[in-house]
Amino acid sequence: MEGISEIQRPAHVPLSRLIDFDIYQPLLAGKDFHESWKALQDSELPDIVWTPRNGGHWMVLRGRLVSEVLSDYSRFSNHTVLVPKDTAGEAYRLIPLSLDPPAHAPFRNLLSNGLSPKAVGGVEGAIRRLTVSLIEGFRLRGNCNFTHDFAEQLPIRIFMQIVALPIEDMPRLKYLADQFTRPDGTMEFKDVRIHFHAYIAPVIAARRGQDGTDMLSRMINGKVHDRALTDEEAANLCIQVLVGGLDTVVNFMGFVMLFLARDPAARRKLAENPEHIRIAINELARRFPLVTVARELRADIEYEGVALKQGEMIVAPMILHGLDSTENASPMNVDFNRDEARHSTFGNGSHVCPGAHLARTETRILLEEWLARIPEFEIAPGFEITYTGGIVGSVNTVPLVWEPASTRAVSA
Ligand code: HEM
Repeated sequence: MEGISEIQRPAHVPLSRLIDFDIYQPLLAGKDFHESWKALQDSELPDIVWTPRNGGHWMVLRGRLVSEVLSDYSRFSNHTVLVPKDTAGEAYRLIPLSLDPPAHAPFRNLLSNGLSPKAVGGVEGAIRRLTVSLIEGFRLRGNCNFTHDFAEQLPIRIFMQIVALPIEDMPRLKYLADQFTRPDGTMEFKDVRIHFHAYIAPVIAARRGQDGTDMLSRMINGKVHDRALTDEEAANLCIQVLVGGLDTVVNFMGFVMLFLARDPAARRKLAENPEHIRIAINELARRFPLVTVARELRADIEYEGVALKQGEMIVAPMILHGLDSTENASPMNVDFNRDEARHSTFGNGSHVCPGAHLARTETRILLEEWLARIPEFEIAPGFEITYTGGIVGSVNTVPLVWEPASTRAVSA
């Protein structure tokens, strides 16, 4: 791109706020995914900047502002949550994420039940059984491709069970979900939407009016203001749940296991004190956030001394909240004894992630069962870890090795 002063920018954007940054390509040479974002936050930039990439948008760089932009729907609307607004944003008008209060709540209620602590409690036994069986499948081998052999198996299989969709459809749905969150250029956004609709329409038709108890059936047959959902609403609600559930936990687990493989002290602390794992998950969520979304300006406003115009997009990277040193001391350190881990890893405000309890439960059970069986492990020597930026950031492959003799057979 040309020199910063020559970049095309709207007349109201001051040069001092102009940066050249692509939220989908945040990686810097020699830095990992989170270090790259952190470097942006730590550079001498104003708290609110404007980049011409991805259609041109504002971006906040401080935790305080991330949390405010995410939750203040009176100024920052969920009508469009992805950039570029005209392509990704347009294709991703899903329910309930693209609705602002008060329209949001009745749709959100339809999906909350299926992901509530009670509902997750109902599948906890299945999560633990599958976790143990996957780990036992490779424990004595002394190695695994954690990403493929575990992270892409457990959350997705459990999720497919919750929504009662056939496991054979998993690769197709995961591919489509990834095209929204980390597009690889093989499909246009509008086509992702078309393919998702083609998949879900017959599912809705088959479950409508039936007494299925799976999460999709309950949603499809739910009511909003005493009326049934239209087919379009039902499809957008189902697709939202599929996109939310298929990719996020996979990547969170990848980041967590990468960290534990490289940090023997943290690993041993949790292995020796499994009762600390539940609390440790929150610190791990703070340190390894993944999501970056945007909001649309409802009206012309002045915000923190900057003129923002109606219809413009403002990106609020959840990633930057927990990593901000004004929110958490020594934010790049994982500190299981931190008094309070402040973050927006699961969002903030009315759209806060309804799947967070499921995600935390699956990750907790992974650590409980893994560390009890394979307390010592590391990254396969010589393997270069790589990352991909996106709406959901990703660590591409995490290959782990260990001494089979150091593992333990634990009865489930
Ligand atoms: C580590 C795992 C996860 C992370 C980091 C995560 C993160 C997020 C974030 C940041 C938001 C808010 C987006 C916004 O405000 O624009 C969100 C919303 C959402 N998430 Fe998650 N999520 C995770 C797991 C899940 C799972 C497992 C499901 C479903 C099974 C799910 C379903 C949803 C849905 C449906 C929404 C939209 C809620 C609404 O609009 O009211 N998420 N998630």
